[in-house]
Amino acid sequence: MSAMHQELAEVLQTLPDEQRERAAGRDFWLGHWRGHEVVAVLSRIGKVAAATTATALIERFGVTEIVFTGVAGGLGEGVAVGDVVLARSFVQHDMDASPLFPRYEVPLYGRTHFDTDAALTERLRAAAAQVLAHPADALGEAAVSEFALHAPRVHEGLIASGDRFVATSAESQALRQSLPDALAVEMEGAAVAQVCHDYGVPLAALRTISDRADDSAHVDFTRFIDQVASRYSAASLDRFFEL
Ligand code: ADE
Repeated sequence: MSAMHQELAEVLQTLPDEQRERAAGRDFWLGHWRGHEVVAVLSRIGKVAAATTATALIERFGVTEIVFTGVAGGLGEGVAVGDVVLARSFVQHDMDASPLFPRYEVPLYGRTHFDTDAALTERLRAAAAQVLAHPADALGEAAVSEFALHAPRVHEGLIASGDRFVATSAESQALRQSLPDALAVEMEGAAVAQVCHDYGVPLAALRTISDRADDSAHVDFTRFIDQVASRYSAASLDRFFEL
């Protein structure tokens, strides 16, 4: 599952036998990848779109695991463009039902964070580490030199999601202050994690850093997503399905 076409384009080319099915206003591509039965889908952007898509995957297509790949803005210190962040847990940075409930708590769930699945995440981490060990093989020499992807790193931890593209240094600084553990920010993961929690479906999520959620985020994001995002997704998933 990805949010945007640019994040999934190469994945779709990798499914040799894919068949398209329409549901919930979206295309779902059913096929096989290294012997695994898979469903690929674009959620579109934002928490509601992501929740609808995850629900359709589970209810309609009966998936037993969900893997989300895409890009995110880097928040944590040392989380640089081209690095990979694996989600251990998600928080909705725009959830605020205070004073009825504590800040960030999802009302009536009694929790602020939703966790990913440890075993599935470990497999995805191993896959991402293989990609980053030889970035030129997986991403192409041109991308490595253009984006200076010489020694990208893998980080693991908290990702913050919300219905905002964070595109000013002031806003990313405010997020760093209120959620000091957050490594990255994006717009879907926490919604998918909440749906997966509701259904008891294991989730893993890999986000490649496209920008630093600062004043140049919109320019960096556009360049990255058009040129390298889907290579990261396809290369990581290919190794993931091999493991
Ligand atoms: N996804 C990638 N970059 C992002 C940003 N800066 N804010 C929200 N979502 C993002």
